[in-house]
Formats: sequence, C-alpha cells, structure tokens
Amino acid sequence: MALLLFFPILRRIGLGAVWALLAASALAQMPTPERQQALVRMVRQDCGSCHGLYLTGGLGPALTSEALADKPLDSMAATIYGGRPGTPMAPWKAMLSEQDALWIAQQLFAGFPEPTKDR
Ligand code: HEC
Repeated sequence: MALLLFFPILRRIGLGAVWALLAASALAQMPTPERQQALVRMVRQDCGSCHGLYLTGGLGPALTSEALADKPLDSMAATIYGGRPGTPMAPWKAMLSEQDALWIAQQLFAGFPEPTKDR
C-alpha cells in the first residue's frame, strides 16, 4: 500500500523504477524458513498424491529437475498458483501466495528438498 503513496513520485522517475521496486519487494517476501518447511511438507504430501511420492509422476507429470529442465519457471509458478483449467491440476491460490508458488517452482527446478525430520 505504501507503493500507492509513492506512485506520483514513481511516475516521475519512470516505470522502470516501479518494476525494479516490485521485483525487489517480491524478493523481500520470500517465504520465511518456517514457511519453507511447511511448503516442503505440503508439496510432498498434497502435490505428491498426484505427482508421485518422489515427484516422479503419477496422475500428474513428473516434477523432477530433469523433467522441468526445458520449461519456463514463471509458467510453472503460474500453474501452481492458478492451476490448469480443464485438467486435474487445481489452483492452489487459496493455500499459497504467489511468492510461495514461485519458491516451490524454484525448488522443483533445483531438485525438491526432503522435509527435515525434527519439525
Ligand atoms: C489432483 C491431482 C493434482 C494435484 C493434487 C496437484 N497436481 Fe500439479 N498437475 C496435475 C496434472 C494432471 C497436471 C498436468 C496438467 C496438464 O495436462 O497440463 C499438473 C501439472 C503441474 C505442473 C506443470 C508441469 C508441466 O510439466 O507442465 C506443475 C509445476 C505442477 N502441476 C505442480 C503442482 C504442485 C506444486 C502441486 C501442489 C501444490 C500440485 N501440482 C498438485 C495434477 C495435480
């Protein structure tokens, strides 16, 4: 909301600065370590029911780093957040923020982490 207050100033600086700020704020909103652990468990349990326990595929396609290698990150994040209409891939926006979805997509590309046992 603070962005709205600064909008007249930002318009003078130019749209490039606005996008730079938005990108910076998206980075700043990366999930906290606690939230990241909850997301890891959620993906293994809820997403795993369709994409497989090891995310190697089931009803849904494999989500391993190999399988995703040639796919665009932003489109994968958008699929997680908004779902794919007409397929069993439902939107997750009720449970995830866009930052959560982007973070999950980044972890899938990197090779999804195991949940830590002590939490
Ligand atoms: C009810 C089953 C189901 C669940 C639960 C589910 N998915 Fe999917 N998902 C699918 C199907 C089916 C597709 C393929 C859609 C299509 O035909 O394009 C898909 C597609 C995807 C894709 C795109 C893969 C690609 O190669 O294009 C991603 C990424 C994805 N799902 C991530 C997730 C994540 C993360 C979760 C949990 C938050 C999740 N899915 C939960 C069924 C599911």
